[in-house]
Amino acid sequence: MAEAAAAGGPQSGPQSGPQSGPFYHKERIKSSPEEEARLERLHFWRIIDAFRYYRVHVGEQVKRAERQFLSLPKHHQNLLPNVLSNLSRIRQCADHNQEVLQAIIHNSLNMFENIEYGSRVDPQKSRPSSTFDMDKLKSTIKQFVRDWSEAGRAERDSCYQPIIQEIQRLFPSDQYDVSKVSVLVPGAGLGRLAWEIARLGYTCQGNEWSFFMLFSSNFVLNRCENVNSLTLYPWIHQFSNIKKSTDQTRPITFPDVDPQSLPLTTDFSMVAGDFVEVYNEPDSWDCVATCFFIDTAHNVIEYVETIWKILKPGGVWINLGPLLYHFENMANELSVELTYEDIRTAILNLGFHLEVEKESVQTTYTENERSMLRYVYDCVFFVARKPADLYFNGQEEDDDLQQSSSPAAKAPRREGYDRLT
Ligand SMILES: C[S@@+](CC[C@H](N)C(=O)[O-])C[C@H]1O[C@@H](n2cnc3c(N)ncnc32)[C@H](O)[C@@H]1O
Repeated sequence: MAEAAAAGGPQSGPQSGPQSGPFYHKERIKSSPEEEARLERLHFWRIIDAFRYYRVHVGEQVKRAERQFLSLPKHHQNLLPNVLSNLSRIRQCADHNQEVLQAIIHNSLNMFENIEYGSRVDPQKSRPSSTFDMDKLKSTIKQFVRDWSEAGRAERDSCYQPIIQEIQRLFPSDQYDVSKVSVLVPGAGLGRLAWEIARLGYTCQGNEWSFFMLFSSNFVLNRCENVNSLTLYPWIHQFSNIKKSTDQTRPITFPDVDPQSLPLTTDFSMVAGDFVEVYNEPDSWDCVATCFFIDTAHNVIEYVETIWKILKPGGVWINLGPLLYHFENMANELSVELTYEDIRTAILNLGFHLEVEKESVQTTYTENERSMLRYVYDCVFFVARKPADLYFNGQEEDDDLQQSSSPAAKAPRREGYDRLT
């Protein structure tokens, strides 16, 4: 993992020297046979196509809604004078969203310096994108609310602040040179948590696997600077549980802060790739912070084991999130749905010391606060420390971990399920 990437200057791995800004590194698939490279390229272009297809997809939904409405008896239609104008408003909002999505992919084509996705594998492609990819894209749009809008502040306060406060408590700036405290945020989404940690002076690296998220976080972190200069309409895809049509078409603006405002000396980076594949250097991180992440695993114990391995002796893992297993009910996918109780047992058996544990932290996730249906996650929050006085035999530990890696986790890239919103 040594090749540099886009904006922000060169890097040579998670523990390299100061960075001037976020960068993007694409981890190559190990042993990279041609077929895997071809599949990866197909996947890249499939996600680019999904971004491009958005307007058509929403347009079809709107057309369907218009057809349904026009099939009503005329006297029913006459009772509903605003429906068609609202549907045209939704179409306009989708056109606007498309412009932002175009800007995102415009900046994505060359974002990985060490990987060329070249031209598309299937240049004749004209197939519509799948509903699955469209759902991922709509979730990504809502993720802008969570991470980079004023409207997401309360949600960020409930999810990110407990983690940030714990980092500050464990590594206070009056006792540590915080620039030497390294924090890894796996499953970083659009990067706000990692960015906030870096803003406090810690060395921070986000890791993310989904191209939807990577393209979008690259855009916010490297291309946006004027506060609230961009607009999205994140709620137009929701047709049920709406009180007023203006709720459905209300905008959000982003970014609520200038992402480029980190001091030049800040060591902040983003690395693309599967967490368990990219991070295998033992004893490297002072802190691993996971937020709504561990349930994305095929086998959550593999994540726990990886975190154990990469933490320095004395390092801490801070976790907040629910257990909405992403691969549950997915055909042909390994998915081990453990209870928190079981995971807790494994954490302790591995040798972690649980220093803080709260079993009921209520949060939301990309919540539409004006929806008539709202979900609350009753999250667990904990701080687990890898004891400082362990004796390691690095070689043996490596061998053990490799043997227990699940084959499914090394399968070709797939986007996981969305969580409920
Ligand atoms: C539910 S989201 C949470 C995002 C962010 N932490 C937040 O709280 O908003 C989980 C994220 O983990 C990413 N992810 C899933 N599996 C991953 C893996 N194996 N390696 C790195 N990231 C992964 C997903 O793409 C997704 O962005």
